[in-house]
Amino acid sequence: MSLGRVTVTAVRNLHPVTLTPSPRINILYGANGSGKTSLLEAIYLLGLARSFRSQRLSPVIQHEQPTCTVFGQVQGGDDGRVCNLGVARNRLGELQIRIDGQNVRSTAQLAEALPLQLINPDSFRLLEGAPKVRRQFLDWGVFHVEPRFLPAWQRLQTALRQRNSWLRHGRIDAVSQAAWDRELCLASEEIDSYRRSYIQALKPVFESVLRELVELDGLTLSYYRGWDRERSLGEVLAASLPRDQQLGHTQAGPQRADLRLRLAAHNAADLLSRGQQKLVVCALKIAQGHLVDRARRGQCIYLVDDLPSELDEQHRRALCRLLEELNCQVFITCVDLEALREGWRTDTPVALFHVEQGRITQTHDRE
Ligand SMILES: Nc1ncnc2c1ncn2[C@@H]1O[C@H](COP(=O)(O)OP(=O)(O)OP(=O)(O)O)[C@@H](O)[C@H]1O
Ligand SMILES: [Mg+2]
Repeated sequence: MSLGRVTVTAVRNLHPVTLTPSPRINILYGANGSGKTSLLEAIYLLGLARSFRSQRLSPVIQHEQPTCTVFGQVQGGDDGRVCNLGVARNRLGELQIRIDGQNVRSTAQLAEALPLQLINPDSFRLLEGAPKVRRQFLDWGVFHVEPRFLPAWQRLQTALRQRNSWLRHGRIDAVSQAAWDRELCLASEEIDSYRRSYIQALKPVFESVLRELVELDGLTLSYYRGWDRERSLGEVLAASLPRDQQLGHTQAGPQRADLRLRLAAHNAADLLSRGQQKLVVCALKIAQGHLVDRARRGQCIYLVDDLPSELDEQHRRALCRLLEELNCQVFITCVDLEALREGWRTDTPVALFHVEQGRITQTHDRE
């Protein structure tokens, strides 16, 4: 799927603008502080109702303005239909999400309508950061290929909340607690099976994408489900009950799952250079795009902030080629257009947008 039209109002320094991007490659170029990342942030807001730059949304709203809004027309989902999305956020923290004219409360519906992949200079956190970042990455992928994942995940959250509250306050009878534990185990097994088959499908795609990007022989990706491989979750929960009660929360389970990337018996993040880390993360995210595509729920859209940073020319070209081969819509920002102007296939539509002090103008379209 692709964004056929985007209208952005009062996001950061951007002047109100309506863009009609290319369904394939869109390059946004301009000086530091001109508003390139802000446009990616606006699109991200449309797909996830949050920012990738700040926890809170109030810094995203333009100074002196009460509300920021983003509208977008998404074309070509699995049924080829056009879908109109709108997200508005005001200074009181109120969020309004509309899909095809209807108010919607769940951001999952937005994410389903507009699957986005972000690659930015912070992406190395996927390797270096806490397990939560990798779980989010994993679950993004599972969510977009397995429709049964979200309900199972919601069941898990409810059962976990019950158990943790009981661990802290001890106010529940034994029969109800056993029932909740059973529910927790069932939801956990289900989530684990979706995640496991997802990783099985992702691994070979990741490895072949990585090979095209960078030579890193021996890099392995594996999945830790969040509890002992030899025992059932029920057994693990029973054994860890005293400690769970002491801590006031459940230690084992899918809420502790992780992905492990290892190289020569080390954590890959401890060995790889910053550029190599970026390439590994790009390979993971591009591999996810292939799986979304394969699941026939429409392709995802890539937001690539500051693509040339940390990459030499050869790796930059390899990355552009892989993004191009995905046949999906890509928004790329850069300071110096020359780094990205050439190298695209002649039949790939490439739209160029110059960003200057918050104003965006389309300067050239090769379509
Ligand atoms: N809430 C806001 N209201 C108005 N302007 C803002 C707001 N928040 C940030 N800005 C300004 O918006 C501008 C755009 O920042 P942005 O990060 O989008 O630039 P950029 O083009 O990505 O720059 P760089 O090349 O340095 O990454 C900055 O000058 C910033 O000071
Ligand atoms: Mg920027």
